[in-house]
Amino acid sequence: MATSGKVIRCRAAVAWAVGKELSVEEVEVAPPKAGEVRIKIVATGICHTDEHVLKGCFPNVEFPVILGHEGAGIVESVGEGVTSVKAGDKVIPLCVPQCGECSFCLNPESNHRFTCKGKQIHHYMWVSTFAEYTVVPEYAVAKIDPAAPLDKVCLLGCGFSTGYGAAINTAKVKPGSTCAIFGLGGVGLSVVMGCKAAGASRIIAVDINKDKFAKAKQLGATDCINPRDCQKPIQEVLTEMTGQGVDYSFEAIGLKETMIAALASCNMNTGICVMIGVPDSASEISLDPMLLLTGRTWKGSLLGGWKTRDCMPKLVSSYLEKKFNSDLLITHTLPFAKVNEGFELLRAGKSIRSVLLF
Ligand code: APR
Ligand code: ZN
Repeated sequence: MATSGKVIRCRAAVAWAVGKELSVEEVEVAPPKAGEVRIKIVATGICHTDEHVLKGCFPNVEFPVILGHEGAGIVESVGEGVTSVKAGDKVIPLCVPQCGECSFCLNPESNHRFTCKGKQIHHYMWVSTFAEYTVVPEYAVAKIDPAAPLDKVCLLGCGFSTGYGAAINTAKVKPGSTCAIFGLGGVGLSVVMGCKAAGASRIIAVDINKDKFAKAKQLGATDCINPRDCQKPIQEVLTEMTGQGVDYSFEAIGLKETMIAALASCNMNTGICVMIGVPDSASEISLDPMLLLTGRTWKGSLLGGWKTRDCMPKLVSSYLEKKFNSDLLITHTLPFAKVNEGFELLRAGKSIRSVLLF
């Protein structure tokens, strides 16, 4: 490769400070060091977690930073000792790498590869996919089938896998069961797909934006409820609808109130509630301990509980075999330069997933 071993100048969306629009800039991307891989990102989705960071919900994320963690691309070059991928391989960068324990993984400072206007730009969630080229550790790269359309399977890098896996892996939804999903964004709708694939007989979708209901029904929801149209708290409504509460509830929003409501919505003997939505980092929850004492199980799920490096290639194969249709989550495809428009659509509740193309 002509660029191998050299600094690459390319476009990236830089978040200079909390609350500011992203700015598409020319950045310098350093070559990969030993054990690292430089990837040409072809497509990236916009996830609500990026928006959380931009709003300043996670003070531990340092600015300036290049966000984005739902991408797909092609290996441009590899550093010394990299054996699992080579230049030209199609890959999905992993925002939750399979090794998450070593000191390199845990040190967010250890992967500075971007500069812009003479300033160091921070890396984000190992991947920083809002850049034409990015450098990631080998263990944060999954090699996928060369037949995979990168503008579609990028969603497997976060949103789809997170929601689908929460149903299949974390909750282990059983056939014939009842489920409730709070929040019908890209993540929540992927939970709906997972519950349907697992054979749930009743899938109740909950959102304050009724515009999300048509897609939820298309993907398998049997009922859709707007809590703001209800006279009673949503947990009471769901308990009445199902007799004793649902078997599985999922929170895909990231709010304390809906986390408690989701917990209270599952039945008190065997109900399982899975937290998926990312709360502000200062959040604390207080709850009535009886909710748990009676027998409910409260679980968390990060990126759907997949062992990412092993599972991502298999998920891509399942996509190619049409075992699920994550394309239905893509409501907008935009050129990379319109990254801020993509965020506007997300904030306005008008998109499920916008995919940016470089
Ligand atoms: N009650 C019900 N639904 C709500 C509420 C509420 N109080 N507040 C927001 N919602 C709905 C929104 O209307 C929207 O449809 O939650 C949905 C969230 O969807 P997106 O903004 O598209 O977010 P998504 O990318 O799906 O991520 C959801 O998972 O990964 C995490 O950080 C991410 O916390 C976020 C969550
Ligand atoms: Zn995400």
